[in-house]
Order: sequence, then C-alpha cells, then structure tokens
Amino acid sequence: MKLEIKIIQADHYEEMSRLAAAQVIQLVKAKPDAVLGLATGGTPIGLYRELIEDFRANGTSYEGIHTINLDEYVGMTAENSNSYASFMKENLFSHINIKPENTNIPNGSAENLEDECKRYDALIESFNGADLQVLGIGRNGHIGFNEPGTSFSSHVHIVELSQNTREANARYFPSMDEVPEKALTMGIASILKSREILLLASGHTKAQAIKELLEGSVSEDFPASALKNHQKVTLIADQDALQLVRL
Ligand code: GLP
Repeated sequence: MKLEIKIIQADHYEEMSRLAAAQVIQLVKAKPDAVLGLATGGTPIGLYRELIEDFRANGTSYEGIHTINLDEYVGMTAENSNSYASFMKENLFSHINIKPENTNIPNGSAENLEDECKRYDALIESFNGADLQVLGIGRNGHIGFNEPGTSFSSHVHIVELSQNTREANARYFPSMDEVPEKALTMGIASILKSREILLLASGHTKAQAIKELLEGSVSEDFPASALKNHQKVTLIADQDALQLVRL
C-alpha cells in the first residue's frame, strides 16, 4: 500500500492554526490521558494561541495530558528565556491546566548529555510514543533538529546545528553569536513512533521545502521525507507554503 500524506489547505496562517487546534482539541477530548508531542518555532504559536482561547472559552481540560517536546538547545537551563522550556511555558503551558510535572522537554543543561539522551529515549518508550506529534519544518527539510543526513533510525541524540538553521533561528537571539551551536533532539525514529503526525507549514519561506517533501524522493538528505514512511501524516499548510505545489 502506498502511504500518502493527507493535505489540508488553509488560506492563511490563522486558518492553519485553527484547523490544527481543532485536531488537537478533538484528541484531548476523546482521550483525556493522551500524550501530545509538541514543537517550538514560530509555526505552532498560533495553534497554541487557539488552544489557550479554547481552554478559556470551553474549559477543555489538560489535567491528564502528558507532553513530550521534540528538542532543546544544548547549554540552556529551563530558566533561560531563550530555552524551548521557557518558550513552551510562555506560549502554552502556563495558560492551560496542564500539570507541570506532566510536561517533558530534553534537559539541554544536563551534566551528561549522553545520559540525558538515554533518559529521554526511555521516557518516549515508556509512553510508547506520542498519540499525536505536532511538527514544523525547517527550510532545509529538518524536523525537530534533525538536519539533512540524519539517519532515519536515529533516536534522541545530540546535534550540531547547521549554519542555515542557526541563521533561521537567529531572530530569537540578541546576536548570531548567541545562537547555540548544538541541540538535543528526538531522532527520526522517535518521531515516527507517534501514532499520528500533524505537520504545519506557513509562509513562502517554506514553499521549497513543502514542494520537496511532496514531490521529491524519500532520502536522508531531506529529513522530512521520512514522514512518507508513516501511515498517518496530515500536512496543514497555507497557500504561501503550497504555492510551488500543483494540487
Ligand atoms: C526549529 C525547531 C523546529 C522547527 C523549525 C522551524 O529549528 N527545532 O522544530 O520546526 O525551527 O521553525 P519555524 O516554525 O519558526 O519556522
């Protein structure tokens, strides 16, 4: 059977965010003890905003929900305002009724990073993967922080960030020098372990990556192409991100 990525077209970022939120909310209601795999970056912020609004308006409860985040910069404590731990608190966790102890992010400031990778792998294993993994995509096709060339059988590991990725993420830092050079990330195999994957893409800067994903071959040179080996992937993308694809 040929596996196909289901494509949902959105007019713009706000619609992409609403459509994504509807899927997450549906799962949280159907399975109040679900494990959500979460992502950082600019792309999912609108989704998180929608979840917060829904929580305030409708009281959707996250009391029994667990989360596992994809990645974290090496050398950053959770308290550092540029850490992904801070990002998640600020953009989602502190606004809904999720228990802080049920949220999980790799510890980028662990003394022994190899041990931290093993701990995080075991944690993902203990959940048997996420029920739903939210993903963004990097301009070079990276998912999590899995840069081109990453093995599809990779688990949680330490990565050297590419110049391209550091430049793309530099907007969050006071200067390029302060953008970390390494990160801890779930591997491709850890991501594919989730029962369902929701890939989000918005804006013209993602158009080339989305074209490559949908029209290119499956290759470790383009990490997101591993998603074509998964049986349940939905891409929600706006017109700008889909502009190079003939649908
Ligand atoms: C970072 C994150 C990825 C994210 C990507 C795209 O590198 N580690 O998880 O998907 O950036 O970010 P943005 O959504 O800001 O374009």
